[in-house]
Amino acid sequence: MRPYELILKKREGGELSEDEIAGWIRGVTDGSVSDAQSAALLMAILFRGMTESETTALTLAMANSGRQLDLSLLPGVKVDKHSSGGVGDKTTLILAPLAAAGGVTVAKLSGRALGHTGGTLDKLESIPGLRVEMDLAAFLDVVERVGVAVASAGVDLAPADKKLYALRDATATVESVPLITASIMSKKLAGGADALVLDVKVGNGAFLPDERQATELARTCVSVARRAGRKAVAYLTSMDQPLGRTVGNALEVREAIETLKGGGPRDLRELVLVLGAEMLRLGRVEEDPAAARAHLERLLASGEAAERFQRMIEAQGGDPRVVDDPRRLPQAEVRVPVEAPAFGFVGAIATRDLGLASMALGAGRDRPGAPVDLAVGLEVACAVGDAVEAGEPLAWIHAHTPDQAQAVRTRVRDAFRLSQERPAPPALVRGRLA
Ligand code: URA
Repeated sequence: MRPYELILKKREGGELSEDEIAGWIRGVTDGSVSDAQSAALLMAILFRGMTESETTALTLAMANSGRQLDLSLLPGVKVDKHSSGGVGDKTTLILAPLAAAGGVTVAKLSGRALGHTGGTLDKLESIPGLRVEMDLAAFLDVVERVGVAVASAGVDLAPADKKLYALRDATATVESVPLITASIMSKKLAGGADALVLDVKVGNGAFLPDERQATELARTCVSVARRAGRKAVAYLTSMDQPLGRTVGNALEVREAIETLKGGGPRDLRELVLVLGAEMLRLGRVEEDPAAARAHLERLLASGEAAERFQRMIEAQGGDPRVVDDPRRLPQAEVRVPVEAPAFGFVGAIATRDLGLASMALGAGRDRPGAPVDLAVGLEVACAVGDAVEAGEPLAWIHAHTPDQAQAVRTRVRDAFRLSQERPAPPALVRGRLA
């Protein structure tokens, strides 16, 4: 069928066949379908939706559009983890070495920061010398020797997604559950893991703030994984405040190291234990959730998790001494407090605004390929439900100059909504779908 007819069929609410979807994605990849036609079809999909069969066909066609990793020669069950993107979400930096120390093989391909959310690769690159751009042989070699590697997905993994994502970004067609599902899951399927733990964020800093839509995304991703012959479990977790206390690349690595050593903020540690226990279960290391959690707690307390991170850093060319001495990470010159204007309880935090403030400092990027500043960012001093006195810090801005900090100060202060009544803190884990 010609692209024109596909657009017409979807525009009128019809169901596209597997062959029609595969033909479209072949045309996207080889350039024979024009951007105008793909954009029109994306808009029709946004309005008309897709059945689960269509979403699965789209995901598989996109996964097939480039290289697919074969991890079958690596030992054990290969378990991947994916977050739909959040502010201060440094979970992968902790979970990947922790799950590996627990006996799961973790061959993880990750992305870079874009918009108000950060990216694991940029965070890792704040470790001096560490390489995330590796060829496949080098990547597999690190996984084999250390049990874990985290590297760049590279241009040849699901190339159709890269083209379609750029078109969606330019045509207001990002917020569609089938399109997001196919985008996320095509890269995960091509990444070759046997099982996947998904962390779908919900709340004002999430990509899909609405709980109903986020739940639908989680359900669809799990179902597509199953239809594609992989195991998947999804968690819905809160992005109504930043995760942990830091936002920004080196700052987040420092907090991840604290958590790997058994400390760290309570919410971050809790999320790591919940997702990590699921990784151990899917990896068939420990079926019982309480025993899996206790196992992970021991690995954090004993230093084995931190030691695994050190080995991963070294194998990827980085300076492993940052784990014992995080002052070796890039540091900004000034740390400027943002004070509460009056007494109150932190009623809500505009999490997305904090992500945008961090991006404005230079910690994130608003277009693919733009450089990021590894040292700058925010340190949050309070959580929803905390009481603050007038003049007490709500956050600190890490910047290179006082003027740079001043430029985002109002935005950071206004992100904290003070109220006279203490609100209930938002629940961290909102649901599990399997
Ligand atoms: N993350 C992705 O990889 N793709 C989307 O469409 C949205 C979030």
